[in-house]
Amino acid sequence: MIDNATPRAGGRRLTLGVRSALVIGTVGVLAAGLAVAATTAPAAAASTLGEAAAISGRYFGTAISASKLGDSQYTTIANREFNMVTAENEMKIDATEPNRGQFSFTNADRVYNWAVQNGKRVRGHTLAWHSQQPPWMQSLSGSSLRQAMIDHINGVMAHYRGKIYAWDVVNEAFDDGNGGRRDSNLQRTGNDWIEVAFRTARAADPAAKLCYNDYNIDNWTWAKTQGVYNMVRDFKQRGVPIDCVGLQAHFNSGSPYNSNFRTTISSFAALGVDVQITELDVQGASAQTYAAITNDCLAVPRCTGITVWGVRDQDSWRSGDTPLLFSGGNKKPAYDAVLNALNNASPTQSPTVTPTVTPTVTPTVTPTVTPTVTPPPGGCSVTATTQTQWAGGYVIQPVTVRNTGNAAISGWTVTFSFPSGHTLTGSWNASISGSGGSMSARNAAYNGNLAPNGTTTFGFQVARGGSDSSVASGYTCRVN
Ligand code: G3I
Repeated sequence: MIDNATPRAGGRRLTLGVRSALVIGTVGVLAAGLAVAATTAPAAAASTLGEAAAISGRYFGTAISASKLGDSQYTTIANREFNMVTAENEMKIDATEPNRGQFSFTNADRVYNWAVQNGKRVRGHTLAWHSQQPPWMQSLSGSSLRQAMIDHINGVMAHYRGKIYAWDVVNEAFDDGNGGRRDSNLQRTGNDWIEVAFRTARAADPAAKLCYNDYNIDNWTWAKTQGVYNMVRDFKQRGVPIDCVGLQAHFNSGSPYNSNFRTTISSFAALGVDVQITELDVQGASAQTYAAITNDCLAVPRCTGITVWGVRDQDSWRSGDTPLLFSGGNKKPAYDAVLNALNNASPTQSPTVTPTVTPTVTPTVTPTVTPTVTPPPGGCSVTATTQTQWAGGYVIQPVTVRNTGNAAISGWTVTFSFPSGHTLTGSWNASISGSGGSMSARNAAYNGNLAPNGTTTFGFQVARGGSDSSVASGYTCRVN
């Protein structure tokens, strides 16, 4: 961890007159006023879902279909609004392993590449599922199917190793009625198939968060929710590697939104896993319901992001329900409700408010002297943590930027160095440019304003050679 303070360019200068006692008092009031104003002024509202979610350190994503990447209305909205992408169908088992041992990533890579080329992260969906199995897998059973599942997880995760934010390792393994497991060919290989899938996934890509994903586990009172909760609790107690639970959140008349959704989110989070809303759509797209869902996530620190299951109503798997945030190219009332809720979220790091300010300068005043008072220069510091690393890459997160000066700042730049052969594969909450020994991360539109002692964070992911264990270094911060 490296701290570095750089003097603030163009520091504010105050000139005192001769009536020292009165003027010093005025400086004190002025300084106090400056500090309070700097810490209470509302941040500018973000104008897209992704930027607004990032105010509180979250993401806002959508499902993307490779077949629609040629539709400019679709890609314009998707690129502008979302900063996380899930392939709607292209990373499923039938798409990625159509014949046993023959992997195909053509359409999956189209979605993946579109996402990362537009600065977005990717959720992987999905590795082990009773549905969308190719015919060869449907015909397997027992140890042969178990091995095929393991091989499939290894094959797909190797292709995307170090590149996926979170994988839905196991999808929809619980029965709708009784809180027990769903009958399926995978379940009939033995009750331990889910934990085998998670252990396989952890070894295949240690950088990816590993999620269990399901529908109808949004209502805390439902038996299915309790069944999944008990499994996750058991996994955490026994050290089975699981990092997150995906609540699909397909809400409709048969499975309506209930305000106990917040209890579901906080209860899973209390087990020590992240919670992500992974496939959100709401029949009729009530603005009030969308706002409530967004606020439920915002109320729980470990609810790390929301993904809606498609861009426009016409893209939805339930298009007749008009359940999404856009109709054609138009924002629906539900869009505004979600954006407002995100914009009203508390920042992840609250600025420190220091209402009592003591004047830092007490000039010696004689009737003929006009002293100049210069507040301490602005500056910023940076600390960086290597969150995780694997043979071919690593994630630096959080990189924490702190305003070390006595005045608010409106922008910052962090510089750092990559060892030879390291390349950036993704970043969030900052705009990163450069190469090799000269990397530069500039604040995003929404996190440049920092009150004195205020902090913000960003992160990035790097690819490197398989035998290289070095990481980025030499972090310095300067005020823009
Ligand atoms: O692309 C073919 C097309 O060529 C063909 O003519 C047509 C004929 O039926 O099918 C098209 O493929 C369909 C595909 O969606 C793309 O539209 C498949 O039949 C259809 O089964 C598939 O449905 C997907 C469904 O999962 C099943 O995998 C939906 O798009 C997708 O939104 C839905 O997503 C699931 C999540 O993965 C898991 N949670 C529930 C969610 C909603 O069902």
